[in-house]
Amino acid sequence: MLKNFWYAVEFGHAVGRRPRKVTCLGQDFVIWRRRDGRIACLSDLCVHRGGALSMGTLAGDDSIACPYHGWEYGPDGGCVKIPANPPGRGIPSKARVDAYPVIERYGMVWAFLGDLPEEERPPIPHIPQHEDPAFRAVYWETTVDANYERTLENVVDAAHTPFVHGTAFGNPDRPEIPDYEITGDDWHAEADILLSPPLPKGLWGALARRRPRAEHVVVSNGWYLPNIVKLHVRLPFGDLVLYDHNIPLGQNRTLVKIVGYRNFFTGRWADGNAVKRIEKIFEQDRPVVENQRPELLPFDLSAELHIRSDALQVAYRRRRRQLMDRGWWVGGDDIVTGDVPRREATVIPSPARRDNPDLARAWVHRSRGETVNEPARSAE
Ligand code: FES
Ligand SMILES: [Fe+2]
Repeated sequence: MLKNFWYAVEFGHAVGRRPRKVTCLGQDFVIWRRRDGRIACLSDLCVHRGGALSMGTLAGDDSIACPYHGWEYGPDGGCVKIPANPPGRGIPSKARVDAYPVIERYGMVWAFLGDLPEEERPPIPHIPQHEDPAFRAVYWETTVDANYERTLENVVDAAHTPFVHGTAFGNPDRPEIPDYEITGDDWHAEADILLSPPLPKGLWGALARRRPRAEHVVVSNGWYLPNIVKLHVRLPFGDLVLYDHNIPLGQNRTLVKIVGYRNFFTGRWADGNAVKRIEKIFEQDRPVVENQRPELLPFDLSAELHIRSDALQVAYRRRRRQLMDRGWWVGGDDIVTGDVPRREATVIPSPARRDNPDLARAWVHRSRGETVNEPARSAE
């Protein structure tokens, strides 16, 4: 799992004036909509006794109160009130949780999960369809018992479609993937791949039958780091552009959020049909990715065999390796979402840790991946 990226953690329409728990990189966060409409995002782990702030309530002027002893934290993560303290007693500087920058864009809530200064942060992908009135969006989500890199590679992978999706999307009679060229930059790679899917069935099929039959469909397929796949299918009657967010809940559980844009049948009446198609394709992939072994994507490129048609996935694995060497990897030992009982909690470090050297010693929870001397274990 990679820190130091903007992660789309929730659909914007799902966030209101009630604290909401979201999970990413094996850590829980609390998000809520502030009075001015902006969204705040804090580590969900109260530094007092580890209460889940997301079970608390909004209080005072834009603060959140922990459900356990009522400590209140502002949107910057600083504690502003400790109810058990008599009036006049100060608030310790260590009474703070990590706060993460948030941008609401393209219908999603993007939280920057890392401590890079603003100018060094990788970009949020550009999604031109969102502002284009010719397109209409549908939103769908599900959780999968598989690692997010397995689910990400699955959607990038064009060669599986005839086998996993049969005639729903693939074409078992035309399984070859012509060689393709990859374009992109440090944060994204994509390719135009020629596929020969059969005509769609049902509602979309009616539209397809009115157009001349094309031999190929161009599918622009690509990834945006850290966890998004774009699938742009140029159907004879219009464009279907899916953005698939693979949100790592833990090592082996992924929340998949899909935003699907189409520029045909743009009435609300056709939304249900579009969602059903996305769901059907996804449910065909589910058993395959949930049963891949090893569960986690190998670090070593030679641990699995690649062929030409896997070039997009190989590009992903190479780039991920570079970022690991930069120290951006968050490993499995740091997961604190309750899958395994632990005695220590670590959190994704937030920018305030770097921005404010005075606070450097103020953090109670260690940052993930930080190496410290192991404490004596005699008390265990
Ligand atoms: S655990 Fe949060 S206030 Fe005590
Ligand atoms: Fe698939």
